[in-house]
Amino acid sequence: MSTQTVQMTDRPTLSEQAPVLLSRIAGYVAHRTVVIGLRAGLLRGIADSPGVSADELSDRLGLDPFYVSVWCRSAFAAGILARGGEGGYGFELEPHLDTLLLDIASPAYLGDVFLVCDAPEMFGRFEENLASGRRMWWDDTTPDWINGVAGAGTPFYTRLVPAGLAHVPGLAERLATGCRIVDTACGSGVGLVRLATTYPNCTVVGVDGDRHSVEVARERIRAAGVDDRVRLVCSPLEDMVLDEPAGLVVNNISMHECRDADLVTRNVAAALEPGGWFVISDFPFPDSDTGLRTPPGQVMCGIQFFEAQIDDQLVPRSTYDELLARRGFTNVGSVQLTPMHALTYGQVPPAGSGG
Ligand SMILES: C[S@@+](CC[C@H](N)C(=O)[O-])C[C@H]1O[C@@H](n2cnc3c(N)ncnc32)[C@H](O)[C@@H]1O
Repeated sequence: MSTQTVQMTDRPTLSEQAPVLLSRIAGYVAHRTVVIGLRAGLLRGIADSPGVSADELSDRLGLDPFYVSVWCRSAFAAGILARGGEGGYGFELEPHLDTLLLDIASPAYLGDVFLVCDAPEMFGRFEENLASGRRMWWDDTTPDWINGVAGAGTPFYTRLVPAGLAHVPGLAERLATGCRIVDTACGSGVGLVRLATTYPNCTVVGVDGDRHSVEVARERIRAAGVDDRVRLVCSPLEDMVLDEPAGLVVNNISMHECRDADLVTRNVAAALEPGGWFVISDFPFPDSDTGLRTPPGQVMCGIQFFEAQIDDQLVPRSTYDELLARRGFTNVGSVQLTPMHALTYGQVPPAGSGG
């Protein structure tokens, strides 16, 4: 943690603090309103029929009209809905909220982040186990959780492939020629499909330690019609041994979870061809008090409640610079894609470089 701290010299008055605290409750109300809207199809219903009234909406969705009117008012208050339709009695989504909340193909998609924050794995189990400190692993989570995490991870893959990877010098050319790509901690396979479809000359291997996730990934690659070029391995990354050298190994929002990140990085280096790249795509946890007090910092603090239960924490991005340097990677670099998404990359020394 850096020495930069939030100065408390200008002590706020009680009447200054009260509205700040109230805004936290307002955020909770807005969050619950969005979650209900996503789950019950209210947001989708309004996106499909801008200007729809609460009565029409309840009728279409088979929901109680009074409850729907209460939800619409709260969504309006939260800045999710605008007034619209005839005489302003109906509702439409505020600009871009269809993209942010409903379009899973968008790099800006956030809908599933709302849903995973509401899942018992995030805060409920943490509070239940606050005294015992009982830990869990992915096979203790529900299929709903794994599905929600896949949705929340999808925009990370969307930003990574191909635009994020294009930041890595020389990598786009290697991928166009064709090579093996390994997605370490591939989860339920969203990235495998994206890599296989974006780079048709490449073969792809997905490695993950959770059997259920691997089975979901198997079905996903079959449904996408890329199973002839994608192979799955169920294994801890700490035990990963691959038969054929890869030009690229990626890891999306999972490197912080490794039980032994040094050993995993050594296994990745061993899996790469000379000159091959390792690209770590992860949450850049704030390394200052100022960073913690930003909205991205606060959301990442929320994610830490789940990470704690699987016995890890998100880490500052610079941790990966040190990790890659320690394991002999060269040309280490990084790029911040959003306030909650950064890439760190490094290259196994090319043949004959003396590395
Ligand atoms: C947050 S999910 C991300 C999955 C996927 N990369 C995505 O973005 O949708 C983390 C995944 O990493 C896997 N994982 C974490 N640590 C692992 C390890 N040491 N070995 C193998 N898999 C691991 C978990 O099983 C889980 O599927």
